Amino acid sequence: MIPFQLLAQEYETPLYVYDFDAMTKQFETLKEAFRGKKSILAYAVKANSNLSVIKHFASLGSGADCVSIGEVRRALMAGVPAYKILFSGVGKRDDELREAILSDILYINVESEAELGRVEMVASQLDKVARISVRVNPNIDPQTHPYISTGLHDNKFGVDLDSAKRMYIKAKNSQFLDPVGIHFHIGSQLTQLEPIYEAAVIVADLVRSLSAISIDLKFFDMGGGLGVQYDNEVTITPYDYAQAILGALKGLDLTIIGEPGRFLTANAGYFLTKVLYEKKNGSKRFVVVDGGMNDLLRPSLYKAYHRIEAIGKKGEPSACDVVGPVCESGDFLAKGYELPLMEHNDLLVVHSAGAYGFGMGSNYNTRGRSAEVAFEKGEARLIRDRETFEDLVVLETKYL
Ligand code: LLP
Repeated sequence: MIPFQLLAQEYETPLYVYDFDAMTKQFETLKEAFRGKKSILAYAVKANSNLSVIKHFASLGSGADCVSIGEVRRALMAGVPAYKILFSGVGKRDDELREAILSDILYINVESEAELGRVEMVASQLDKVARISVRVNPNIDPQTHPYISTGLHDNKFGVDLDSAKRMYIKAKNSQFLDPVGIHFHIGSQLTQLEPIYEAAVIVADLVRSLSAISIDLKFFDMGGGLGVQYDNEVTITPYDYAQAILGALKGLDLTIIGEPGRFLTANAGYFLTKVLYEKKNGSKRFVVVDGGMNDLLRPSLYKAYHRIEAIGKKGEPSACDVVGPVCESGDFLAKGYELPLMEHNDLLVVHSAGAYGFGMGSNYNTRGRSAEVAFEKGEARLIRDRETFEDLVVLETKYL
């Protein structure tokens, strides 16, 4: 049990708390599902990019999937070996490509023919060989929220099969490119296995047809996307997930790469916020808290559900909107949520906030981002200071 009340007293609110032991368990369960196969789990740093979180996964043997050179630098700084780092993302600048190639990371996930041209150009300027993988868009509907669905031709991600084939041939013929992998990622918070399997079959078939023209890939990168339980979703088990991927790959001997983010961190994270007061507009009840959309954007952006626990409160619950202090009607943590009558300084714990929580935070309304705490083996420790007003203005004051 995490002593939320004590942590809120010691570190104040709003606060993120991460259960590192729960993260370990998730990592090991997923790794175990691929036991006996060559595999690398490359933690998707965007889910929670705190250096201590990345370092924790690195200590378990994780690699890192990064979507900016900033994330690559974080991964290296946190101790992830370069040979387990991937650089993905639909738009990479030349300077980012340059640094990635010079850092000798495992490979760059390329998302378009135009980008392949840039990678080749940058590699030639450096007189280096860039290892690449092509992100294939298998045109599969992952049946998740449209904002986090990425595997349809309607989405900006990846390339169709014909373009992918052309890109591999170009890469094979280039002295500055080495095609080592193939990648797909059809969306996030996936709870249906069938679309993942179908996508894997399409991509595995492409691997076979490339092999027939002597382009032999080493890495089969199945992306991330494994869903978790926020409410009462039925999720895919790591075992079934692994069996689907292995089933699609049958006969192929490639190292499997996974890019899990949410699965590793979401349910290990808690967002702690204190009640400022209750108010009513007519008959509508609001509980106003000290954390808002600038701390946890998911409810506002995706209407995402996060379970909220009112610590130590036993009264009769009734419906309310839990709202933050930000000047936006969209600033809420929950709508129509059943809570007992709340008083000043009561503590609310927002569950499943470990993925895409702090990382999507902002300084909107000149609000400093919250502190972050790790809870591991019964002990808590600070892993990020609370931002101060001075932190927020430091890049501007010299221009006054
Ligand atoms: N690999 C690639 C190429 C990705 O685009 C993503 C997530 C991942 C791996 C990790 O996916 P995961 O295992 O975490 O599902 N902000 C949204 C989620 C955006 C996901 C973006 N890409 C949310 O809060 O639900």
